[in-house]
Amino acid sequence: MRKIRVPLDSRSYDILVGGKLFSQLGQRCRQLRLGSRCVVVTDSVVGPRYGKRALRALKGAGFDAALHSVPAGESSKSLKQVQAGYDHLAKLRLERGSFVVALGGGVVGDLAGFLAMSYLRGIDFVQVPTTLLAQVDSSVGGKVGVNLKAGKNLVGAFYQPRLVLCDLDVLKSLPPREFRAGMAEVIKYGIIYDARLFSLIEREHPKIMQQDRRLLARIIARSCQIKADVVAQDEKERGLRAILNFGHTIGHALESITRYGEYLHGEAISIGQVAAAMLSARQLGLDPVAVERIRGLFGSIGLPVTVSLSGQQERKLFEAMRLDKKVSGGKVQFVLAKQIGQVRTGQSVDDQMIRSVLAALGE
Ligand SMILES: NC(=O)c1ccc[n+]([C@@H]2O[C@H](COP(=O)([O-])OP(=O)(O)OC[C@H]3O[C@@H](n4cnc5c(N)ncnc54)[C@H](O)[C@@H]3O)[C@@H](O)[C@H]2O)c1
Ligand SMILES: [Zn+2]
Repeated sequence: MRKIRVPLDSRSYDILVGGKLFSQLGQRCRQLRLGSRCVVVTDSVVGPRYGKRALRALKGAGFDAALHSVPAGESSKSLKQVQAGYDHLAKLRLERGSFVVALGGGVVGDLAGFLAMSYLRGIDFVQVPTTLLAQVDSSVGGKVGVNLKAGKNLVGAFYQPRLVLCDLDVLKSLPPREFRAGMAEVIKYGIIYDARLFSLIEREHPKIMQQDRRLLARIIARSCQIKADVVAQDEKERGLRAILNFGHTIGHALESITRYGEYLHGEAISIGQVAAAMLSARQLGLDPVAVERIRGLFGSIGLPVTVSLSGQQERKLFEAMRLDKKVSGGKVQFVLAKQIGQVRTGQSVDDQMIRSVLAALGE
């Protein structure tokens, strides 16, 4: 098992990465002296698979545990589900000392964290992420929240979990497409922070895609360590944390103009990162060889690296980028790479340069 500490003074916590961790859930919560009652928030796909195991582990350690399930999918990150969650928590008589366990992907983690942050002005919560994306990204760093009709993640807070438990075995049941999408964030950590991680994935991606246990543990732990480092330096996203948005300017806009129906997040940011690499070559002198390595790696994982937009879609893409808060002096702001492993934030890019990169992405 690998252990990563997220150092945030009194809000510090551990991320555990390894096999068969699930069965330790109860004991680990005991060690943290969490209260006697808890609710496991999960979804309609993960609950039937892993819900009983989670309850057994918790009850085995003496906790009074119940399940709260929401329909699988992004639409459950809603105020309606927040309300339903509050009602259930109240019915189960959760108290100030009680806690919430998030058992699922990022949707469950963001919703359960939001419930824990706000119920009784905040009760403890533990993350048991079950998607690769949730293990390397959403469960670490304390962003919790839900969507509004007006847009994604518009309501939320920073609220850190007490523990994150990444069990590698649960990833075996993850649909391959979801696994690939999670890899887009892992590769991102390589590009923004760790050239060695990038090279490791380049060398070992066939084994990683077969979920080789040793390699998986290594890349997940390294990703969590990088996110923990970044979050420890900038918990509330006032500066450095923005590097995590590499590939997300165009990625988010693509998700938005396709109404979140065409691409998984990881797929959209795969295209977004290739675009950002191309912009980096033009604006920061990123070596064209590095651009090709980046494109090549996403491609060999089986992630999309091209996109063809009509004139109208391109206009909508620009509109979406401007709405995405990343604009300064009328120019869209990017995180761009100086080299693999090193990026710069707040890079203003001319619309014309973005257009030419979009055209090149369609070829
Ligand atoms: N809080 C943050 O910092 C942060 C960061 C990135 C993303 N997010 C959020 O995370 C969400 C996306 O998370 P996601 O990609 O994990 O999606 P998700 O939670 O919707 O999970 C994807 C699908 O996989 C299923 N699933 C989960 N674990 C499984 C398993 N082990 N076996 C089989 N099926 C399984 C789920 O039921 C769901 O259908 C978005 O809402 C995004 O905004 C949050
Ligand atoms: Zn992302």
